[in-house]
Amino acid sequence: MTVKIAVLVSGRGSNLQAIIDSIERGYIKDAAVNLVISNKADAYALERARKHGINAVFLDPGRYDRSGYDRDILKLLNNYDVDLLLLAGYFRILGSEIIDAYRDRILNIHPSLLPAFKGLHAQRQAFEYGVKVAGCTVHYVDEGLDSGPIILQSCVQVLPDDTEETLTGRILEQEHIIYPEAVRLFAEGKLKVEGRKVRSLD
Ligand code: GRF
Repeated sequence: MTVKIAVLVSGRGSNLQAIIDSIERGYIKDAAVNLVISNKADAYALERARKHGINAVFLDPGRYDRSGYDRDILKLLNNYDVDLLLLAGYFRILGSEIIDAYRDRILNIHPSLLPAFKGLHAQRQAFEYGVKVAGCTVHYVDEGLDSGPIILQSCVQVLPDDTEETLTGRILEQEHIIYPEAVRLFAEGKLKVEGRKVRSLD
């Protein structure tokens, strides 16, 4: 049975692209991105989706209060019978209604080795802190900020002549590897959440 995926985005959409490409290449089987929703009208991610014939919707937050906005997202997710919700550079907090409805079925990619450097500009936080190893994390989304159970992580060495930009670029390369991998594991039914721990049956 095909796993129906919706992706929430706000910007560039390179992680969305990595997932679409992984499905088209056959790395992720029995899954399809059916819906992309953005809170920004000019998100390039919307264009990427349309190029692949995926329904791409801009929902204007200015026209709603917070709960109304999330309720309309939930309606769309229900209309499309979505099985898996992905956050991919979605710069808005998800309300508890959606988290409840999609418990253990919402994933996010975060550009740090969680639980270090939660929140915005994680790569800058890590770079300025002076860490020697940085990286990225795919995790389940719960009510907290970047706090749900961890599915996959990948490390990146911080090199002596790195700038925030070069480090961010190498972290992004890893994001494009582990996010599709996590989606594949989910689609194949190989992820088991046990409290804070996620077992992968791969
Ligand atoms: C990525 O760095 C992701 O880790 C973070 O936001 C950025 C989104 O990039 N959550 P893109 O829109 O997928 O290119």
